[in-house]
Amino acid sequence: MTTVLVTGGAGFIGSAVCRHLIHTERYRVVNLDKLTYAGSLASLRDIEGHPNYVFHRADICDTKSVRRILVAERVDRIMHLAAESHVDRSIDGPMAFVNTNVVGTVSLLAAAVDHWRNLGDDARMGFRFHHVSTDEVFGDLPFDSGVFTEETPYKPSSPYSASKAASDHFVRAWHETYRLPVVISNCSNNYGPFHFPEKLIPLIITSALDERPLPVYGRGANVRDWLYVEDHARALEAVMSKGREGESYNIGGRAERTNLEVVRTICALLDAKRPRKGGGSYTDLITFVADRPGHDRRYAIDPAKSERELGWCPHETFETGLARTVDWFLDNGWWWKPIREQLFDGTRLGLLSVG
Ligand code: NAD
Ligand code: TYD
Repeated sequence: MTTVLVTGGAGFIGSAVCRHLIHTERYRVVNLDKLTYAGSLASLRDIEGHPNYVFHRADICDTKSVRRILVAERVDRIMHLAAESHVDRSIDGPMAFVNTNVVGTVSLLAAAVDHWRNLGDDARMGFRFHHVSTDEVFGDLPFDSGVFTEETPYKPSSPYSASKAASDHFVRAWHETYRLPVVISNCSNNYGPFHFPEKLIPLIITSALDERPLPVYGRGANVRDWLYVEDHARALEAVMSKGREGESYNIGGRAERTNLEVVRTICALLDAKRPRKGGGSYTDLITFVADRPGHDRRYAIDPAKSERELGWCPHETFETGLARTVDWFLDNGWWWKPIREQLFDGTRLGLLSVG
């Protein structure tokens, strides 16, 4: 059985990865997470007692602790997801993004190289450092042309995407300089269960259910390319287990939608599944608000290489995935209501009050 260290395993995508790996019964999962505001052990309730799952609270910037955990848990492969992940927060406080995404990734690379060098021959050959990154490193696409391929030059716009781009470069440098066996994946916007309600889709669902305004930046014309989180988790397992050393893989579901289309679709699903008590449609709550500074117009992933080389394709369309997501939020208030009450009340973030 392969032991995989998942960093950021208490976050949105990391918890989906932990659940997926455990359910395949092919892996032992070591979840390493600092438990920032974005991390929640409640997202791991399904697997917390599983004999092949273990949790360590640690900071990826703490190289010594990470090195100790790598050795003690006899880690065969690393999937690195721990990060500060919200663009609007990166506008308000970029240093946390530099610290975790850049310095933290380099600290983790240093611990990983040490560990990898001390492995036996077979384990050294099989080792992988899989860096989980984003399509936002490629920057702003025009509305009417272009898609991101693995060859698209990096041109990040936000402090978040700049920090992820920097970490991608460091991972490649560790491959070129120290021969660490790395692989990188760059994925489009995810959505699904256990999504922290600061991001568009869970913010809209939970605000609508609370009868609060649904904030749409600018005119809602910006386009994102959406992927259901469990499809991403399966893709990440494929990259970690089959991806070629030193390569990068773009992951996406060919599901471009404008933000306004996304919000209207959520409203229509809620109108059908949980009609408003006072009558009327949830679309009446849509409120156009000031645009995000440096707002990338469009992201669009060409996933052909992942499909061809890894044999991966999504199971959900945007419509089926969004319906499942809305159902999940309707059924799992126990998870998101305390977050909205105690951690994030929906206050607008990222309006240029740089700290
Ligand atoms: P998230 O914010 O939901 O979770 C991040 C997790 O990392 C949290 O559990 C947090 O506690 C942990 N963490 C933060 N700083 C840490 C530190 N210093 N040490 C240890 N743990 C720390 O993020 P997410 O949406 O699940 O994203 C996971 C990864 O996937 C990130 O690297 C992100 O850049 C990438 N990604 C996200 C998306 C998306 O749509 N959400 C798309 C593509 C790529
Ligand atoms: P977000 O979920 O923050 O992801 P990202 O910025 O990483 O793509 O935002 C998705 C899109 O939705 C983005 O174009 C910004 C927009 N948006 C809104 O219109 N209103 C909101 O309240 C939020 C959080 C985002």
